[in-house]
Amino acid sequence: MSEKHFDKAAAGWDQKQRRIEMAAKIAGAISSTLPLTQTMKAMEYGCGTGLVGLALAPQLASLTAVDTSAGMLEVLARKIDEEKIANVTPLRLDLLDQPCTDRFNLIFSAMVLHHVQETEKILERLCALLVEGGYLAVADLWEEDGSFHDASVEGVMHHGFDPVDLAARLGGLGMQEVSYTEVHSIIKTNEAGAERGYPVFLLTGRKG
Ligand SMILES: C[S@@+](CC[C@H](N)C(=O)[O-])C[C@H]1O[C@@H](n2cnc3c(N)ncnc32)[C@H](O)[C@@H]1O
Repeated sequence: MSEKHFDKAAAGWDQKQRRIEMAAKIAGAISSTLPLTQTMKAMEYGCGTGLVGLALAPQLASLTAVDTSAGMLEVLARKIDEEKIANVTPLRLDLLDQPCTDRFNLIFSAMVLHHVQETEKILERLCALLVEGGYLAVADLWEEDGSFHDASVEGVMHHGFDPVDLAARLGGLGMQEVSYTEVHSIIKTNEAGAERGYPVFLLTGRKG
């Protein structure tokens, strides 16, 4: 399980500037790609400390911020409290084996899918939690050679994804208007000092 890994990482999560920059890019891309409105009930799957969700919350009616890591959710809860944010609710939930009776107009997720072994099952679950006409937005790493995460990161189940394949899977689940675009490139420096970019895609679709 990666829960313990993320519990330990939570306190220092927001200290990495590259995470803040990526979250801003992903939030900006979701906001410019989808017609967000202040009537929308949204869920973020794998919210972490809320870097993406808190940027989008002012454009939404409500946001249920779901994660399996209690540590990540504690950091988010502190921010909600300090910033007196009224429309974001942290929720510890594993959607793969726990029920959720709510339905949403928008579900989004950033850099979570590669930590979930059962890709098909979670996509199916997320689509099922959308109302008719609701939007799904998934941001993750483009397929890479396994060099993105260093060995200390636990729970890496996939070395990114081919968005063409994910788009086809969403189509198979009845999603319409499915498209994807590169929204960011994460620059990392290897041991030899060489810089390399890891592209991040945003995949969107509408339940039709
Ligand atoms: C790489 S972090 C990304 C956090 C946040 N989305 C961001 O962009 O800063 C992955 C997050 O997914 C969460 N996660 C991993 N597996 C999960 C699962 N099965 N259900 C919900 N959250 C999960 C982790 O606890 C962690 O907070």
